[in-house]
Parts: sequence; C-alpha cells; structure tokens
Amino acid sequence: MRPLGLFRHGGLCRNYCTHKRYEEIPGPQPLPLVGNALLFSPLGPYNIPRLLDGFADLHRQYGEIVKLKMGNTPSVLLFNPNDIKTMFDHEGKYPQRPTFDALKDYRKRKYQTVGIVPDNGEEWYRMRQNVQVLLKLKTVHSYWNRQQAVAEEFSACLLPKTNADGVIKDFVQHAFQYSLEAIGVICYGKRLNCLSANLLECDAIVKANVQFLKALGETFHQPPWWKLWRTKSYKIIESTQDLMMTNAIKYLEEARQKLKQNPAVFLEEDPILCHLLENDNLSATEKNLLVTEMFQGGIDATGTVVTMMLYEFARNPQIQAAVYDDLIVNKLRPGYAPPLLRACLKETLRLHPTAGGTSRIISSDAILSGYRVPKGTLVVGVTPIISRMDRYFSNPLKFNPWRFIDKKVLPHPYASVPFGHGARMCPGRRLAEQEILLGIAEIVLKYEVHPVTSRDIFMVLDLNLVPSEPIDFRLVVRRGC
Ligand code: HEM
Repeated sequence: MRPLGLFRHGGLCRNYCTHKRYEEIPGPQPLPLVGNALLFSPLGPYNIPRLLDGFADLHRQYGEIVKLKMGNTPSVLLFNPNDIKTMFDHEGKYPQRPTFDALKDYRKRKYQTVGIVPDNGEEWYRMRQNVQVLLKLKTVHSYWNRQQAVAEEFSACLLPKTNADGVIKDFVQHAFQYSLEAIGVICYGKRLNCLSANLLECDAIVKANVQFLKALGETFHQPPWWKLWRTKSYKIIESTQDLMMTNAIKYLEEARQKLKQNPAVFLEEDPILCHLLENDNLSATEKNLLVTEMFQGGIDATGTVVTMMLYEFARNPQIQAAVYDDLIVNKLRPGYAPPLLRACLKETLRLHPTAGGTSRIISSDAILSGYRVPKGTLVVGVTPIISRMDRYFSNPLKFNPWRFIDKKVLPHPYASVPFGHGARMCPGRRLAEQEILLGIAEIVLKYEVHPVTSRDIFMVLDLNLVPSEPIDFRLVVRRGC
C-alpha cells in the first residue's frame, strides 16, 4: 500500500485539491455514442477544413479551456499559452500524440516497422533517437553550400515560368519543387533535378505527397472505415507509401555505393545519411522508412511557409524593401541571417502556422486553467488561434516582424510554437529554417514580389494547414539581376 505518497508533499495536495474538478470543465453537451462529433459533421455548424473557426467559436462560448468529446474520445482544448507550457511539462519521456492508425497498420503489415510519425511509446523513442542528428546546427550548416545552389537555381528558374504579365501562378506548386529538391540533397545525398530536367518524376512525387497527406487526414478525422474494407484513402496511403519507399530503396543503394567508395568524403559531404547508413541498430527497411519520413516531412510545410512569407512580403512592400536592403549589406552565411529576415520567418509562422495545433496525451495529472486534468487525457493546444490573439500580440493581424526583434516586449514563448516543443518537437526545424531563409533570400535579391489580388488568403485544414486558394505573384526582375 502506498497511501501517503501524494499527501507527504502538502503543497502538491493543497494545490491539486483546491482546483476545480475535470468534470466541471465547460464545453458543449455530448450526445450518447457520438459525443460532440456531429458539430463537425455535415449536420453541424462546423467542418473539418475550417476546424479552427469552430474551435474559435467554442473559445468565445466557453472560455480558455473547453472539453470536447469526439465519439468516445474526450479531449481538452487549450487557448492559454501558460496551459500550453503545462501541457509540454507533462508530456513525459515518451511524448504521445494521437496515432495515425491507418498508416501504422499499413506499415506494420508491409514493412514490419512503423517509423516515427504514426507511433508512440518506446518504439517511437528508439526510432526518434536516429533522427536527432538533424537538430545539430553544425550538421545542418554543412549542407549550406549545396542548399544555397538549390536556392539559386530555384530563384533563376521562376522567371521562365511567368506569363507575359510577369505573373507566376499557384506559387506553392513551385515552392514544393524547391523544398523537394532541397530535402533530396539531405535524404538521398543527391540532386533530383526537380527544378529543371527531371520534372516528370518530381511532379509525381509532389502529387503523391499531397495525396498522401490528404488521405492520411481523412483516415484520421473520419470513422475508421478502413478497418472494415480498404477505403479509397487507405489505398492512396498504400500506393504513395510504396512510391516513396521504392525511391528511398533506390537512392539509399546509390548512397551505400558512394560510402563504400570513399567513406571520408561521404562523411564530410553527407553526414546525415552517413550517420544513418552506418547505424548497426537499424535494419535496412527501418533506414528506408526513416529517410522516407524525413523526405515527406520536408516537402509540404516548407513549401507552404516559403509561399506565405512571400505573400506577406507582397502585401508589405516596405518590409520587403527593408529585407532587400539588409541582404545587400549583410549577406546570408552558415549560421547567420539578418535579424529582420529571421523575424519575418517567425512572424510568418505566427500568422500562418502549418500545424492545426499541438497535442499531447499527458503522462501525469496536470492543472490546466485551474482544472484538474487526469493523466492519459488528450490535450490540444489550439496554437494557431492563440498566436492571433490581441492579448498576446498587439494588432495581431498585422504582419509586424519587429515584435520579434524588440527585446523589451518579446511575445509569450508558448503563444506561437509552429514547430512544437520538447522531446517530440519537429526534428526538421533547423533544416526547414535554413531552406526557407536561403530560398527567400535568393528570390528577394532577384525580384520584387507583387501581389496579384488584394484578397485575404486564409489557411484550411488538410491534415496540415494549407492556403485556401492558389496564390499568384507578379515578379519584377530587379535592376542589374
Ligand atoms: C516550416 C517547416 C516545418 C514545420 C512548420 C514543421 C512543423 C512540425 C510540427 C508542428 C511537428 C509536431 C511537433 C510536436 O508535436 O511537438 C512536426 C513533426 C515532425 N516533422 Fe516537421 N515541420 C517542418 C519541416 C520539417 C522538415 C524539413 C522535416 C524533415 C526532416 C520534418 C520532419 C518532421 C518529422 C519526422 C516529425 C515527427 C516527429 C515526431 O513525431 O517525433 N519537418 N513538424
């Protein structure tokens, strides 16, 4: 019997006992069996693509913390950055998010291993250790020159893609080709030549990735029909995963040959691949799968952020001009980007994060907004709404990068967490930042970027948040370029 454990620390008990009960957390009344799921169905007021509007509405009705039940699964929505911090403080050694069961099921059956993204627990931890190398700045910087060359080619190849009015249509598609080429350098140790020659293969990969994310989102948000029969979404997951794995097998084999021929050069040029290929604790299939996860993780969000940053530059020509002037004087170099450009990236991610929120199944009891929330509860930080609240950001809808520069009034550290936080934070964060800064700098140095319409673009949920409609820009080549 261990009855005294909790009470020995009087402070903990006093705190915990004086707070309100979990059952008292406000929220819409759940129905038997379906809970609150109808709210987000065609019968209800909200829908999945505009899920965040629904969450914002619930916040207006119920306040900073809201209890919601989707089917049988209760969850707690958080709208206060102090609670986001508490959520991460209670994530435990193996931070858990809701799993992608359809993907997990397919990978387990086909490859007998599931990777990082869909999994939780000790197996997640074992696999995750192998990609921590991505977060080492020195390692990321060692790819600087090769990724800079990709950024230069990307910027140069935009001009031939403009029409007679200088307009480049649906920019995000071009940005995906850039992010694909840039992440290929890391994951496959080679140029795929997506920007010039190898257009068909790259197009197929970009399309497969978009389809994959959409299908994954459908299996995640909808009832698990795939458990009963192979639904269309499940089949798309199968075929797109097979395509990505086939590529990984082919390119990793090429990399193995390079490693064999000249290990020292390979280590210097491709430290991430070298680290992976020389890892005796992983099977060949696990290596292929990890490369596939890095590769796929590296396409969508990076391309979207490049696009949204240019969208803000096009609407804020003074800021674009200031970034240009800065770049002329203070050139980018490994580990250095002018503070204004860095702040523009943070501000873009604040206004247009690509993740619909950040969630954890907490590993210990927590106090959230004054309520006792038991361990094992799914807690969802609705960060895209918090990062647009005037309580934490003055004039929140205005693109104002200086708010991240003025050290006297820096924002709350948990009010904008676009890469997540803690042990399960995005492992590709440093790589993504490097790729985005390089790509944007090359474009701004070569072109003035103008808007084509003054319509506001918003983000819709398609597993990740993506622009609600195609974004076009008018590019004007700068004098002397
Ligand atoms: C602007 C670009 C990117 C954004 C905004 C982004 C954002 C995120 C977020 C919010 C998470 C969840 C973190 C959490 O739960 O705390 C995540 C996870 C992940 N990201 Fe990224 N990401 C980006 C680029 C990349 C890149 C370039 C890679 C490639 C290496 C990548 C690979 C991954 C992987 C593998 C995970 C799963 C990590 C895990 O579950 O342990 N991401 N990302």
